[in-house]
Amino acid sequence: MSEILPDGESHNLCLIGERIRARRTTKLFLKQEVRSELIRDAIEVARWAPNHHLTEPWHFYLLGPEKIKACASLIASLVRETKGDDDLAEFKEASALSMPGWLLVTCEKSADELRQREDYASVCCAIQNLTLYLAEANVACKWTTGLITRDERLFSLLDIDPDKAFVVGLIWYGFPKTLPTQSRKAVPEILTETD
Ligand SMILES: Cc1cc2nc3c(=O)[nH]c(=O)nc-3n(C[C@H](O)[C@H](O)[C@H](O)COP(=O)(O)O)c2cc1C
Repeated sequence: MSEILPDGESHNLCLIGERIRARRTTKLFLKQEVRSELIRDAIEVARWAPNHHLTEPWHFYLLGPEKIKACASLIASLVRETKGDDDLAEFKEASALSMPGWLLVTCEKSADELRQREDYASVCCAIQNLTLYLAEANVACKWTTGLITRDERLFSLLDIDPDKAFVVGLIWYGFPKTLPTQSRKAVPEILTETD
């Protein structure tokens, strides 16, 4: 740990801010594979997210080539069914197949509304932990909540009981071709300080 100065400044503090700001969503990846050990390490870190009542509501599904193929084909079917556009369906399937890594993250379902909100928040924190860890290894992600994440065929494909869990995100990951730039509102626009 680096020395913390009286005003709270430290080398690590600057570093962590820089790293959080620099993480970017991308959908353009190199073909290069990401080692599954790195993803398992990222999941080990992700699960240290805060979670009320220590429910640990997350589950991670690291997809292999067969399931990826089936999911890409499901994406194409969904485009055909909702848009009736074969060309677009083929394009979306090819684009899905070009994603080097697929990680699905689910949250346990709860009948209690407050617990459900809190558990969902925890899973989102876990995904952020995961994406920040991966970014440090130069691996970028795209968190998606497209139609496939709510389709019952995805649940049967991965043997997920839709009464027990829902999908928080499908995370596509890989070494990025390029990273886009992003901006955020200025802090005074999003901060209210009270007396
Ligand atoms: C809950 C959630 C769902 C998202 N779903 C999608 C999606 O379906 N498609 C997509 O292109 N990006 C999706 N994103 C990524 C956002 O578009 C992205 O975070 C945003 O553009 C800001 O870019 P940044 O992550 O580089 O800061 C999602 C992000 C979150 C947190």
